[in-house]
Amino acid sequence: MNQAAIQFYDLHPQQSDLYHEVLTGLSKEQKHLPPKLFYDETGSKLFDRICEQEEYYPTRTEVGILEKYKNEIAKACGSDTLLLELGSGASKKVRLILESLRPNSYMGVDISKEFLISSTTKLAKDYPWLEVHATCADFCHGLNLDHCSDNSRKLAFFPGSSIGNFTPTEAHQFLTRLGKEIGDDGYLLIGVDLVKEQSVLNKAYNDQAGTTAEFNLNLLHRLNNELDADFNLSGFEHYAYYNKQKSRIEMHLRSLKEQTVSIANNEFHFQPGETIHTENSYKYSIDNFCSLASSAGFEQLNYWTDEKDYFSVQLYKRKL
Ligand code: AVJ
Repeated sequence: MNQAAIQFYDLHPQQSDLYHEVLTGLSKEQKHLPPKLFYDETGSKLFDRICEQEEYYPTRTEVGILEKYKNEIAKACGSDTLLLELGSGASKKVRLILESLRPNSYMGVDISKEFLISSTTKLAKDYPWLEVHATCADFCHGLNLDHCSDNSRKLAFFPGSSIGNFTPTEAHQFLTRLGKEIGDDGYLLIGVDLVKEQSVLNKAYNDQAGTTAEFNLNLLHRLNNELDADFNLSGFEHYAYYNKQKSRIEMHLRSLKEQTVSIANNEFHFQPGETIHTENSYKYSIDNFCSLASSAGFEQLNYWTDEKDYFSVQLYKRKL
């Protein structure tokens, strides 16, 4: 095998029907749009910029935990694994633990094919000892690992608190499915953002530089470009707040006036102050997440946090 070759599998994830999804979401009593729509090329770049903002603690805190505890984590995860990264993107975070973990092989799973191939090819170049696989799939719809030549024990790595975009019910379903996929001896290493002082949470989603606002508003820009919608971007504002009762950050786009927006031949009316709900980001306590994972068939082995208990990296194995 060529040093930098990867083994690529395409599960042909269904490309979402943007038009249909947008029309459905905007026709609801509480208008909403799915957060995955944020990530067009501009949106992905804006998200990277969010991660660099002083107020946005999750990325930097998770990186710190992985760097500090990589050897401990690796020891707890054990050897002879097939390391699966869900939503691998640029395959950046996994680099922090690869040398400590020394898995038999790595498989990046991502919905974005070109990005997946280029990122995993780079990874294979940088870690010549590692067998690298890449699966183009929507990790919410199953991974179908039968095609993989490596039968080692599976270790799923799901960093970034992406689990926070799911409601607890969806998270339960997702973890249950994942458990079946990684098998009885499978492990899960997952990044989970923690409940904390409200002001810290509110600031993290309302950064001074306005990057999160730009990220949120870019969604309307995208609909204008791709669906020929006529959103007036100055007619909406970014609105994000911590909903304590539901233990989640809610992001919305709020209409500043009464207005009508058209998308193809459909018209949508907005009252002043009316919002489009664009994202939930759930925050958990260690105990709450442990119960959720437990109800989905996982047993907690260990967890690591930062000094302020802002973020956690948690390790689970399947309950037998
Ligand atoms: C990528 C879903 C973990 O919820 O913090 C960041 C996305 N949205 N700022 C998060 C996001 C606004 C992020 N996740």
